[in-house]
Amino acid sequence: MNIIEIIEKKKAGKELTTEEIYYFIEGITNDYIKDYQASALLMAVCLKGMNYRETYDLTMAMRYSGDIMNLSQIGRTVVDKHSTGGIGDKTTLIVGPVMAALDVPVAKMSGRGLGITGGTIDKLDSIPGFSSDVSDEDFIRLVKTVGMVDAAQTKNLAPADKFLYALRDVTATVDSLPLIASSIMSKKLASGADCIVLDVKCGSGAFMKDKESAAELARVMIDIGKRARKKCVAVISDMNQPLGYTVGNSLEVEEAMLFLSGIVQNPRLKKLVIALCIEMYKLSDKYCPDTDSKSFKSDAEIEELICETIDSGKALEKFREFAEAQGGDLSFVDDFIEGCREAFDSQVDYMLGVDYDGLVERIFYMDDDPAFIEAIDAETVGRMSLLLGAGRIRKEDDIDLGAGIVLNKVVGDRVERGDLLATLYSNNKRSLTSAVRLLSKAYTYSETVSDRMSEGIIIETLV
Ligand code: URA
Repeated sequence: MNIIEIIEKKKAGKELTTEEIYYFIEGITNDYIKDYQASALLMAVCLKGMNYRETYDLTMAMRYSGDIMNLSQIGRTVVDKHSTGGIGDKTTLIVGPVMAALDVPVAKMSGRGLGITGGTIDKLDSIPGFSSDVSDEDFIRLVKTVGMVDAAQTKNLAPADKFLYALRDVTATVDSLPLIASSIMSKKLASGADCIVLDVKCGSGAFMKDKESAAELARVMIDIGKRARKKCVAVISDMNQPLGYTVGNSLEVEEAMLFLSGIVQNPRLKKLVIALCIEMYKLSDKYCPDTDSKSFKSDAEIEELICETIDSGKALEKFREFAEAQGGDLSFVDDFIEGCREAFDSQVDYMLGVDYDGLVERIFYMDDDPAFIEAIDAETVGRMSLLLGAGRIRKEDDIDLGAGIVLNKVVGDRVERGDLLATLYSNNKRSLTSAVRLLSKAYTYSETVSDRMSEGIIIETLV
């Protein structure tokens, strides 16, 4: 077997055998296939595609290229949740503690943000002292004792994916469905959870721009999960507008805590949180028939449990326990929440970002005619948060954990002259000035409430 024949074969649009795919992954892992050859094959896959069987083989070959977590010692069904990446997506920070507070063990390995999409590990890094560097033993101990863990991927988890992802980033081969699906699923399968709920984002701020391609990505990932004997469900959710009120690392942690405290719950974020939690619950070992009626809980009953867990403060308490178990100092939380509660009671603007010691700019609605916000383009907001310093263009870039955007008004809100639309935080004066100018262009308005505004966040759930 040789790599040139394999590249030729895929270039001609032919199906690769299991052996050829494993040969390729072993070759890049052991350095006898060079990166220029790997790049050529990636481009051929990008142009000619892969069928479900090839995509599964590629996933498993990458999964087995490094360490595999064995979570069987936990002795429970362990659930994981993964988002394909969006703008303002802080759902993991909410869903994890809610599930753990409901006694559903959550074992999660998260990534850092790259490009316009954020990453949970960067968000968690904004909590003073928090460490996402967790040993395998601690990973298991934390799931057993706290009920949840969120760790950065260990160096040797799916190393072939790490190598290929870096190459894809610089060879215009990121946006290939089989490459995205195998990249995500190789890491999910290597990190060992029994069940996976996938949040497949769809829209201008996501990899998948339209519903059809998002649904196809979801189907491919579910197929991989099933072939690997994992229970897998995908929720396709809208990413044409940012999720919630904030974009930026510490701002999103603050919003997640306000959500868990029940003070500020953006309705679209709440719908997504509930949809994901319901699916996670239904995959878990808590979802058993009731001893009296012998029937399973309905979605409405599970939703009630989820809301009760938040309203009672149990989920916020679990967030605190989880963050502190990983070294986080949450002593600021009580004051922060109390301050926000008072700010709300006295109808003052709320307190997100008040501790930021950089520069702050505000965008106002300046038209004389009142209007409704019809859209806020997620991709533009993502680009602006990158410009402000909240994200990184290259993996090694430093980020400003406090930088970002608060959307003081969101899609569907009515605005009149002088209303505050958004607040921007950055340490870089020039970037801030450009961001203010460009962000204004992300907004479109309408005189009446249109159908577009009432479109829901959940597009489809695939099992
Ligand atoms: N996330 C990944 O881990 N890999 C991709 O290819 C895309 C998103």
